[in-house]
Amino acid sequence: RATALALPDIAARKGKDPLVCLTAYTTPVARLVDPHCDVVLVGDSLGMVLHGLPSTLGVTLEMMILHGKAVRRGVEHALMVVDLPFGSYEESPAQAFRSAARVMTETGCAAVKLEGGVAMAETIRFLVARGIPVMAHIGLTPQAVNAFGGYTVQGRGAAAERILEDARAIAEAGAFSVVIEKIPESLARRITEEIAIPTIGIGASPACDGQILVVDDMLGLFTDFRPKFVKRYAELGEAAQGAVAAYADDVRARRFPAPEHVFADKPKAKAGAGA
Ligand code: KIV
Ligand code: NA
Repeated sequence: RATALALPDIAARKGKDPLVCLTAYTTPVARLVDPHCDVVLVGDSLGMVLHGLPSTLGVTLEMMILHGKAVRRGVEHALMVVDLPFGSYEESPAQAFRSAARVMTETGCAAVKLEGGVAMAETIRFLVARGIPVMAHIGLTPQAVNAFGGYTVQGRGAAAERILEDARAIAEAGAFSVVIEKIPESLARRITEEIAIPTIGIGASPACDGQILVVDDMLGLFTDFRPKFVKRYAELGEAAQGAVAAYADDVRARRFPAPEHVFADKPKAKAGAGA
């Protein structure tokens, strides 16, 4: 899995074997997920997952660039995508270009992701025409949480047509793929069948061309919310809590450090002791 994936490799997976995508915000986690993934996303979910913010709205371009640089050092194989944060692109195509160019040049990522459908089509077209590949994000777009009034399922009933319009608009504008979040399966299938670019689902059924999850969610490290669409593949948060409690007990009982963790006056004559 040494070869690095490029944009055409991702586009070519439309309708073929599913695209495997996860988030990463740090070098060690990027190294962990990279060999298994087609796309590694530095998501603005890092605001909530890493920085304790109440939503993604407070995430800045500087935060995205800092974490993007860290992730870049851990990615060799997957296509690396970085989210444009709230307020850094919506004002105009020119503002979006300035932000996206900074993200690309300072992090070395291959593409940016932004939220919005019809309203962002002109911006997507502007960026793509100027050398910036764009992944779109429609359905539940968390940066619009205040407009939605919560993280509720989108596109049920008559609202399906609007999201279908969003999908058509971003595909026509030149996005190379699209995240579709928290929509019913029937709509995800219609979008996936209708547009020519890969759809990457999160809470959007197996009908999509790929799947993405927030890595801290699927590892059980971030447990403030438990969305229905997350499958927990591990309970690392619980394991870490147990480890920290055991350390605290050991220190209080003077069981740690034990003799093997202690330095003597003279180095021992053992090879590789690191004394
Ligand atoms: O910010 C994020 O992690 C995302 C993915 C969940 C798609 O946008
Ligand atoms: Na995001």
